[in-house]
Amino acid sequence: MTTFLIYIFMLPFGHATLPLVINTWPFRDATSAAWSVLQAGGSVLDAVEQGCSRCEVDQCDGSVGFGGSPDENGETTLDAMIMNGDTMEVGAVADLRRIKNAIGVARAVMQHTEHTFLVGESASVFAENMGFTAEDLTTNKSLSIFTQWLKDNCQPNYRKSVLPDPSKNCGPYKPRAMSKQRQRERQIDIHAHDTIGMIAIGQDGHVAAGTSTNGANHKIPGRVGDSPVAGAGAYADSTAGGAAATGDGDVMMRFLPSFLAVELMRTGAAPSSACKTAISRIKRYYPEFFGAVICANTTGHYGAACNKLPGFSKFSFMVSDSQSNIPLLKSVDCF
Ligand code: GLY
Repeated sequence: MTTFLIYIFMLPFGHATLPLVINTWPFRDATSAAWSVLQAGGSVLDAVEQGCSRCEVDQCDGSVGFGGSPDENGETTLDAMIMNGDTMEVGAVADLRRIKNAIGVARAVMQHTEHTFLVGESASVFAENMGFTAEDLTTNKSLSIFTQWLKDNCQPNYRKSVLPDPSKNCGPYKPRAMSKQRQRERQIDIHAHDTIGMIAIGQDGHVAAGTSTNGANHKIPGRVGDSPVAGAGAYADSTAGGAAATGDGDVMMRFLPSFLAVELMRTGAAPSSACKTAISRIKRYYPEFFGAVICANTTGHYGAACNKLPGFSKFSFMVSDSQSNIPLLKSVDCF
């Protein structure tokens, strides 16, 4: 009996069936789109691309796609990546302007170049040359977020050690002597979910992962978060599994949590435990960071973990597998 109970408590979060789609947050239509691709015999890369594209079109809760997270100039820019866990190819774009389908452009970088990562204006030119339509990413909503931010004296913002005092004033800013620096509290809005991260694993154990986001609200122009960085935003390796992250990318990208989680699963760690260790590693230095990681291994087990904060005690994510055949909302208690 005791042995049985120990076994039950050691079981990983998810049942083990393949194929599997898992993504951050309750972005159900994205899961559905990816699952439909797999059901129709499509590849795991197609599933991840179509799933994340769905979120870009739907502007999933404003944190993905056009019309969200305007930067200090009021412009929406997009970051995305996709990774093939069979070949370890990656395509990524960041600070992408005027193109709505960021993960599509990331896929084009992977398929039509020998590069991994294109950024900024040049990434947009590349996208246009590849046939993507250039359009304004501003909407009434993003305009009103930006206007309100200006009215609020540009609060919150990401500047530090500058003059005038960035906690009270808009720029332009000049550097201030570091000796006078005071650690500023990070002003992250934990209700602005910030990324779709998705892992798809085929019947044959092939893994793909990807992300798409419009980054951080009021970011400094040029800022790139964790989402398009392989190993940070997502990672896929068909000999081990996949992982994807969401949260405060400025902090999380310093720890490559998705790479770490996949490496832990390679050594036999259960997905839940791999995710937990990736979160713990960040917590050690930034106990108040906002973030979560999803993990899945090549046998179809999955899990997730998140850093507990006031107002963020549970993290929700979506799963589709052959047992459910429809997207199921799952959640995990943060620690
Ligand atoms: N995790 C998304 C970002 O920080 O840009």
